[in-house]
Amino acid sequence: MTVHSLRRQNLIPVVLLLCLSCLSLCTYAQGKKKIEKLIQKNMELAARQYKFMASLTPADSMPRTYDAAQDKLVSSDTRWWTSGFFPASLWYIYSYTKDTAIRSEAERRLALEEKEKYLTSNHDVGFMIFCSFGNAYKITHNPDYRDVCAVAAETLIKRYKPSIKAIQSWQALTAPKSPVIIDNMMNLELLNWVSDEWREPKYKAIAIAHANTTIKNHFRADNSSYHVVEYDPATGKVLEKKTAQGYSDESAWARGQAWGLYGYTMMYRFTTEPTYLEQARKIAAFILNHPNLPADGVPYWDFNAPVDKHTLRDASAASIMASALLELAQYTEGAEKTRYISMAEKILTTLSSKTYLAKYRQNGGFLLKHGVGNLPGKSEVDVPLTYGDYYFIEAMLRYKQWYL
Ligand code: GLY
Repeated sequence: MTVHSLRRQNLIPVVLLLCLSCLSLCTYAQGKKKIEKLIQKNMELAARQYKFMASLTPADSMPRTYDAAQDKLVSSDTRWWTSGFFPASLWYIYSYTKDTAIRSEAERRLALEEKEKYLTSNHDVGFMIFCSFGNAYKITHNPDYRDVCAVAAETLIKRYKPSIKAIQSWQALTAPKSPVIIDNMMNLELLNWVSDEWREPKYKAIAIAHANTTIKNHFRADNSSYHVVEYDPATGKVLEKKTAQGYSDESAWARGQAWGLYGYTMMYRFTTEPTYLEQARKIAAFILNHPNLPADGVPYWDFNAPVDKHTLRDASAASIMASALLELAQYTEGAEKTRYISMAEKILTTLSSKTYLAKYRQNGGFLLKHGVGNLPGKSEVDVPLTYGDYYFIEAMLRYKQWYL
């Protein structure tokens, strides 16, 4: 064997390795291109669908869902917890398209929504006001919108119970039990944001207290969460842990897991407290490693619901998970980060398939089909949901902003 042939032999693995790296870089770039195109197509559809949806929605109401049997959009008044998602989605769509007709519609619906800044009968003011007015402010910098958020934060903390160190979700504050639901983590974004904007620490202090209490009492050893924890308002003692919208008291309701994932990721954004990042990673591990998570990334409505061919998926939980995973990936590195982005890409791809994504002028103008609102309550089962659309749009915009 000559020195030359020896050198040639040594080069073969290096060349092979280079070829493989080039191939995987090409596949990576092609994957990104595919998602980029899909986002462009979906956002163009969103602009057209949401104009159609606006034309079906009475001027004094907000879209809620769609009744396929009667081909009728179902609307609600602004008191319903989902009322803010329509203007909130319109603002997101406007931020992408700069379509002034979409902006005018968003402004009209905001005017209708504004009175809910005083809503004290439950915790949902965060969802209702921050998604709508918070987005409007971030996009337009109109100080009036920022003021509405400040009023809403003051409203929300009226439900804070120092005895529990949490914001009571449901029921009158004088009731003998104080229920706190995992969904409530989402309302903390309003408090954190208002604190930072006004340099007023009291709202964030409440958000932190609530998040800490929720870590202590809502989570099981496997890092899944209960839906509802009921407290004794006098002593702050935990009275009961149970479900309202899940399969059973001990089950992992899919949207609840998604709210927790999103909520703790968001808490880390505002505090850089490692405990919150750790909690979000634990929830992500529960979801991503779960044997009942379908390969296409869209979860069944409850991780513990018995699975057969009739078991429903919840597209809304999938959207929330995709958006949250994209943010969690911002705070992690290496294989873990890649795993979160890949799962979000998978979810977005599945939701963009004809199984889930509606055609123009179908589905009452909603983008996504197959959301599950409250299956045990027989309400909004296998239907479009405004929040499913909202977090789907948000996930696409986050992907575009952070990963393209
Ligand atoms: N309570 C909000 C939800 O149904 O997820």
